[in-house]
Amino acid sequence: MTGGGWQVRPSAALAGTVDVPGDKSISHRVMLLGAVASAPLEATGFLNSDDCLATRRAVEALGARVETLADGTLRVTPPAALHSPAGPLDLGNSGTAMRLLAGLLAGRGIDAVLTGDDSLLRRPMERVAGPLRAMGARIETSESCPPLKISAAGPLAPLEYDMPVASAQVKSALLLAGLSAEGRTVVRQPAPSRDHSERMLAALGCPVESGDWGAAVIGPCQPRGGRFTVPGDFSSAAFFLVGGLLAGGETPLELKGVGLNPTRTGLMEILRMMGGKIEVSGLRESCGEPVADLRVWRSALRGVDVPPELVPLAIDEFPALFVAAALAEGVTRVRDAAELRVKESDRIAVMARGLEALGVRVREQADGLQVEGGGLDSGSVDSGGDHRVAMAFAIGAARARGQVRILDVANVATSFPGFLQTAAGAGLDIQPMTADSAA
Ligand code: S3P
Repeated sequence: MTGGGWQVRPSAALAGTVDVPGDKSISHRVMLLGAVASAPLEATGFLNSDDCLATRRAVEALGARVETLADGTLRVTPPAALHSPAGPLDLGNSGTAMRLLAGLLAGRGIDAVLTGDDSLLRRPMERVAGPLRAMGARIETSESCPPLKISAAGPLAPLEYDMPVASAQVKSALLLAGLSAEGRTVVRQPAPSRDHSERMLAALGCPVESGDWGAAVIGPCQPRGGRFTVPGDFSSAAFFLVGGLLAGGETPLELKGVGLNPTRTGLMEILRMMGGKIEVSGLRESCGEPVADLRVWRSALRGVDVPPELVPLAIDEFPALFVAAALAEGVTRVRDAAELRVKESDRIAVMARGLEALGVRVREQADGLQVEGGGLDSGSVDSGGDHRVAMAFAIGAARARGQVRILDVANVATSFPGFLQTAAGAGLDIQPMTADSAA
């Protein structure tokens, strides 16, 4: 989806309590594992965002029944076996949906075409198609990108694979394929990446091993049904984490029910290195995932050199971090982050252009960005249709020297459908742009 715009005025102070919406990565996995489980899988806190709804429609087209119960709980009832869908599966903007589905479907005798929006059609898919073919899957890409054409193939063989990039999507796709291969599928990673698939598979009774080295599953295995509580998405909390540090008032901004899986919280470590004061309280475990409440105090931030080992652990948070860097004192340098160029947009280029449009000095590198702190001017920024870019600039605009317009914001609903209401509740002044104001 493209279009729309916001006009953001500087805010007096952000305050209050933010209820963080459900985790997108975990919500996708609830749908996908529920569709092949031996009994229904139920989840509270499921994220009803455009991306997760695309996964929902896909599993329904493959034969699963999905209902939202009266109390809001989502129930996925698996069919006896998935069947080929009647038409192409449109996964919208979601790389996670496409790559994980490719793995899930590869060994299940399914013919399917996986497609998506313009952004998704530009994203690299050989990174999953290649190793899946090595397991015996039949998958064609179109010049390495979607659409993916999956054809029914014989039984898959297990694989031992060394991933060239630390990608949780590739790792998860191969583990999901490994569920229908006879033997041990091993995926090694060059650095730790998010481990939600491993945790959920283990919780559903599958023989999984995992660690910083990667993960392995012994197939064939059918996950059993069960009940999950989806934690709040750290990647959505990230905008308010940065917002509270930059623009908080006398009292801290409180973020409730935030998933703190250590493979996701690299941004918190980086912000603390920059001088950010963040308190964690009420640490608890929910369905194998750590969850807590955060209190965020307004803090004077300093630029840092981001340690490369934190990059995969903060991979979705760089738009927010670059904005924090622009409002910090001194220079922030990020390297070893070439993956940012193949996300929902080229996040190095799109963030560099947006920051420059607001008067920030940046130096773009093939694998990173250097940002000179000093503040944001008023101006107009194009999000490139990228939800996280749009939300990052909206947060930064709270501390800009004037009004900021952000263009092409419709995709915010892919991960954070209630962002405008949540932001308004915390004190941000964001107005949707009318055709007149956009002109
Ligand atoms: C995701 C993994 C990450 C992340 C994406 C969600 C997942 O991608 O950027 O938003 O749910 O597994 P990579 O694993 O490709 O880096």
